[in-house]
Amino acid sequence: MSESTFTLDRCKIIELPKITEPRGNLTFVEGNNHIPFDIKRVYYLYDVPGGAERGGHAHKALHQLIIAMSGSFDVLLDDGYTQRRFHLNRSYNGLYVCPMIWRELDNFSSGSVCMVLASNIYEESDYYREYGSFIQATRGEK
Ligand code: TYD
Repeated sequence: MSESTFTLDRCKIIELPKITEPRGNLTFVEGNNHIPFDIKRVYYLYDVPGGAERGGHAHKALHQLIIAMSGSFDVLLDDGYTQRRFHLNRSYNGLYVCPMIWRELDNFSSGSVCMVLASNIYEESDYYREYGSFIQATRGEK
């Protein structure tokens, strides 16, 4: 698949299964079933100070699902041509982010927890950390 096929219209909120009981709710995620990739890594952001921004990068090949496990925050996605802002505040919703999407996370509520399911282990070489390099890559000018 060429990089240009990874555009913003592939990124979407996925509603995950939710088992509602008087004892409480339960949500689960199965790789390659509820989300279009195998899960190789889980990481989470917590104790994010008010006003802080996270993200500010894109990935070359990584697929991710971003979930607000608690509280809320915003995710700005940008494929180099179009931008879209999502507000995440439900632990049964995940935002699927395909490769080659610049993302910025902000507006974290107090006590919020952002969990990310990722298709691969951490590799710094998979990042574009400069917006200019990311834009160049989307124009085929690696
Ligand atoms: P980064 O991806 O820049 O965080 P964010 O997108 O949330 O702002 O990562 C922050 C630091 O943590 C950076 O030094 C790399 C390190 N890190 C790991 O070692 N392993 C991981 O799985 C992740 C996501 C980050």
